[in-house]
Amino acid sequence: MQDKKIGTPLKAVAPFCRTAAAQGAVLLKNEGGMLPIKKEDRLAIFGRCQIDYYRSGTGSGGAVNVEYATNLLDGLGNYPWVNLNKTLIEVYKNWIQEHPFKNGGGGWAAEPWNQEEMPLSDELVKEIARSSNKAIIVIGRTAGEDQDNLDEPGSYRLTEEEKNMINVVTRYFSQTAVILNVSNIIDMSWTLQDWCHGNIKSLLYTWHGGIEGGNATADLLVGEVSPSGHLSDTIAYSLEDYPAFSNYGNDDYNLYQEDIYVGYRYFETFCPEKVMYPFGFGLSYTTFAVEQLKGQRKGSGIESKICIGVKVTNTGDYSGKEVVQVYVEAPQGKLGKPKKVLINFAKTHLLAPGESQELMLETEVSRFASYDDSGVTGYKSAYVLEEGNYRFHMGTDCRNTTEIQAEEQIFKLEKLLVVKEVSEAAAPIKPFTRIKPGKVKNGVYEIVYEPVPLRTIDLEKRILDHLPAPLPQPERTDITFREVKEGKASLEAFTAQLSVKELAAMVRGEGMCSNKVTPGTAAAFGGISDELVQRGVPVACAADGPSGIRMDTGGTATQLPIGTLLACSFDGDLVEELFYLEGQEMVQNQIDALLGPGINIHRYPLNGRNFEYFSEDPYVTGIFAIACEKGMKRAGTTGTLKHFACNNQERNRHVVDSVLSERALREIYLKGFEMAVEEGSVSSIMTTYNPMNGYQNASGYDLNTTILRGEWGYQGIVMTDWWARINDVLKGGKGKLTDLRSMLRSQNDVYMVVNNDGAAINSSGDNIETALLKGSLTLGELQRSAMNILRFLIDTKASEREPRVVMPVEVDPLPGSISVPHNAKSIKKKINVRRSQTQKGSILLRVDHDGIYNILVDIRSEQRMTAQMLCQLYLNNIKTGDIQTNGTGGNWFKQRAAKAELRSGLYEMTLKHIRPGIEISYIEFVEA
Ligand code: BGC
Repeated sequence: MQDKKIGTPLKAVAPFCRTAAAQGAVLLKNEGGMLPIKKEDRLAIFGRCQIDYYRSGTGSGGAVNVEYATNLLDGLGNYPWVNLNKTLIEVYKNWIQEHPFKNGGGGWAAEPWNQEEMPLSDELVKEIARSSNKAIIVIGRTAGEDQDNLDEPGSYRLTEEEKNMINVVTRYFSQTAVILNVSNIIDMSWTLQDWCHGNIKSLLYTWHGGIEGGNATADLLVGEVSPSGHLSDTIAYSLEDYPAFSNYGNDDYNLYQEDIYVGYRYFETFCPEKVMYPFGFGLSYTTFAVEQLKGQRKGSGIESKICIGVKVTNTGDYSGKEVVQVYVEAPQGKLGKPKKVLINFAKTHLLAPGESQELMLETEVSRFASYDDSGVTGYKSAYVLEEGNYRFHMGTDCRNTTEIQAEEQIFKLEKLLVVKEVSEAAAPIKPFTRIKPGKVKNGVYEIVYEPVPLRTIDLEKRILDHLPAPLPQPERTDITFREVKEGKASLEAFTAQLSVKELAAMVRGEGMCSNKVTPGTAAAFGGISDELVQRGVPVACAADGPSGIRMDTGGTATQLPIGTLLACSFDGDLVEELFYLEGQEMVQNQIDALLGPGINIHRYPLNGRNFEYFSEDPYVTGIFAIACEKGMKRAGTTGTLKHFACNNQERNRHVVDSVLSERALREIYLKGFEMAVEEGSVSSIMTTYNPMNGYQNASGYDLNTTILRGEWGYQGIVMTDWWARINDVLKGGKGKLTDLRSMLRSQNDVYMVVNNDGAAINSSGDNIETALLKGSLTLGELQRSAMNILRFLIDTKASEREPRVVMPVEVDPLPGSISVPHNAKSIKKKINVRRSQTQKGSILLRVDHDGIYNILVDIRSEQRMTAQMLCQLYLNNIKTGDIQTNGTGGNWFKQRAAKAELRSGLYEMTLKHIRPGIEISYIEFVEA
């Protein structure tokens, strides 16, 4: 019997989402005190998204079934004193009835990223302006996996209709605020255009705030909460200004020529004039004075800590919070350094007018060491602090800073300090050049190019030198998992007794919508074969995603604000608390690994998944990764850091190679992962779809073994992304779905996913067993991954749960339809569900024999491999099973949709909630 709480949200999460969503909104402009709205104001709200308010992005990063979601009007309804222009609201409501929200047909990744906007006439706006003095315009955008944003209207740019709306509204309203209910930063240069009449007085990025987004936005607009979010990305005047502009969007590979100069690291060093709103920027309704108290160093050498004392005073009229940031300006040395690098930040508590708070920001100097990938400093493959004077700056964004003054220089090195020596790993093979600061001219550095150091190590030798020995055969072969959990038998002995078939089943996850775990989730893994169940191996449940639990078969959960919003809160404690609650909701729903947080770096504004990720800055990314992981760990469950690493483009995401220097990899793209692993709460990581420096990360030996386990000491599991491609662990080349030998050799432990019930029979036809026979994979390597998985399972709540036995669903025949039994043991019927179908009328099936039946379907989809679709099968109005598929490239597959106990008689079969893209040709009842 399923626990009644499964498939339901935990009530305590939503109110906290409202708090979090308000804390991450960023006020970019507020002239003349336009906001907050006052009692005497009469407010007109424009833009359909006041009603069709976005709560999250699309795809796995946003697909949460919710019980409700608030829009801006709902939110303002909490404040009856707000004087809203009701006529205008009615106009929008009526228009939306005739122009309903378009979801693109409901298929995978089909939702458009903007919606048609209501055309506004001069007459209407003029009329509205007679009775309203302030206007609010809501601009909405969504985004999601499998596609990038485009430098086009409706995506990164405004549509003509939106421009027209802003143009007409600002013509009649001298006080206009624009709310950006968007997933990613969008072009903001239009705010400077004449057609805005200089009347946009306020700009507020509210992002996607989850189910409580509308309430949170209203809290901000009315001044119940003063904005305190700061940008976790730089907003430049133009897309062309971003350093990745000419190396983004290719189909085969992208050269990361900007190297470590991502975001503000680039702009502050080379071209500060291109920045419209700097990284770290954000206003409040109040004002603050930030005063330096003390700047000093504690300790010496690599043990040194930089300690900066700061006093923040609220000098305005509203209560509010301020974010203080500390940047280092390291000597250029031989490596070259960004002009500023964020090394610490802190947010005050809510300060009442006149109130002050003192903060102490302490930073280990090792945090800002640079990686020498060429040997130019004399220490190749080492983190070093080059000699010279390190200057520190404090401020409320990366531009508006003051240098920390101290009696003596805070941190000056007479000679280079080696912080950590490691081994060269994951270096590029393809030659290219990268940028570096040259001479200083007018206060900024010139850009010069240098060749990127290429791989020098012998990868084959490295792998063969580190092959794990097979485990010695134990005396007993009946050791149970429980004995290991209780410390009565060793993990090694337990693993050693497992057959190749059992071990191979363990490294294959199954899904989606496996009936061995919480319905509608992304995967089951661990004890997913009968043999493993008999040994007591638990089955763990993995579910999307970063903004709440995704249960595709209808279960509801709380949708959280998106990652970018959370990072903009600059408040790690807040996010830890949010994920502590989220962790409790996971425990209630029997989910052992959330497939999030997503912690890739915002390399370029057009990445379609930026909304799931935190920031362009690796330190900010690391802090929020830690916050999420710590929160979930406290609740007794865990997250999955993804996507490891360099998943920075969705276009052609299985193929496009991220080609970058080892320095950029380590200082920028891996830093957040490293910080989180080092903190200690991480036990699950997902690799990317895309290759990096020639290797799909699912077979990246240096990434998964040399760096992650060897250098960082990680002990948890590594899983692939869903239906990921794997290429040869040595030769690279074209990726395949079935090269699990290369996956295991790299120590990516679990393949996600094979068909439900497919792990034990190797339904995908992977090469584990043949590779073992050929000797290109060793038993020791297979056992090593199995042990990583078992170690993970021991620590999960899955190991305390009774295994979910799949019982047949009992369905009675239609009343009065009992038929005379005879010997037919299977029935097959054509059902013909087409690609674009979303409903299916019922068909009648006659069962002639009492018994337990496997209900099989012939299924296919012409969509791409990672498209996800499903529908639900009902017999006599009783939900009997889920039919789930990913894109099959047009090939037909047979799949078990349900197991049912039936008596002879007539059954009416209906398919409900059919997600377009799925095709079903036959249904078959086979007696089990
Ligand atoms: C996404 C992952 C997600 C997985 C399972 C993939 O398409 O890239 O981030 O966790 O699906 O839904």
